Amino acid sequence: MSPTHQGPDLYSRAEEAAEAIRRATGDPAPRIAVVLGSGLNGLVERFGDRRVVPYSQIPHFPTPTVAGHAGNVVIGSVDGAEAILLQGRFHYYEGHDLRTVTFPVRVLQRLGVQTLILTAATGGVRPELRPGNLVCLSDHLNLIGTNPLRGPNDPRFGERFPDMTEVYSKKLRNSAKEEARRLGVQLVSAVYACLPGPSYETPAEIRMLRALGADVVGMSTAPEAIVARQAGMDVLGLALVTNAAAGVLPAPIRHEDVLEAGLKATPMLGKLIRRVILRVAGVAPGNVGFSGEFPTYRPD
Ligand code: HPA
Repeated sequence: MSPTHQGPDLYSRAEEAAEAIRRATGDPAPRIAVVLGSGLNGLVERFGDRRVVPYSQIPHFPTPTVAGHAGNVVIGSVDGAEAILLQGRFHYYEGHDLRTVTFPVRVLQRLGVQTLILTAATGGVRPELRPGNLVCLSDHLNLIGTNPLRGPNDPRFGERFPDMTEVYSKKLRNSAKEEARRLGVQLVSAVYACLPGPSYETPAEIRMLRALGADVVGMSTAPEAIVARQAGMDVLGLALVTNAAAGVLPAPIRHEDVLEAGLKATPMLGKLIRRVILRVAGVAPGNVGFSGEFPTYRPD
């Protein structure tokens, strides 16, 4: 049994956690949230006026176990637009069930979040993808073998059988692509294959994923996106290609390289996310004068 299966029901637990965040940071919470993936925690530095709530101080929140994943809810602002940042996420491979993995998304739902930006480190399955490339998720293959909505459904969270025709909002994808173009950053569409991990894939598995229509592969994102869609949120998935997937290049895959690629790309990704946040907030990013604040990004 995971911690989220004990005591009060999931809805009450999410509400208690949301209430603790509201108490610590003030009401109302921002309507947009960003989940930071492996190596991308440094993105919080790009936000001002930060209020930090450690996961350990939030009732029912699990704590991350992986290097490169801090554990904080951070509320920060970019040019007047506020966002909630989840610095550190939970993964199925850590041993959590998917209800625990997606608990923070339920808490965001209780806080009133309407737009969720998911970031992730991924391996490039499509042979042209190289470390440092940034992709915008157009769809996913949930190959974890289970679903975060499995089990009793509380209608206060959403429908029993939610539609997944457009998991990643077309409108947000178009906005992200437009902003990337303005920044001179390539942002290609990609189908994300979500595997349970924690071992990286074999070359044969990568060939299988390619045949199934995957462009990138990772171990997060899909369960969070499913829960966010059930909650009626608009989801944007921005994934950094940290390595060529197994067998695409002769080199082995190392977690350190994944984290390092994340660090390198943080300025560029931060800049893009800021612009998307401002657009969602209804501020024209072109008019707020922060272009040139970060070094120019040049993919390898
Ligand atoms: N496979 C799965 N997950 C990943 C990878 C990969 O190659 N790179 C970063 N996350």
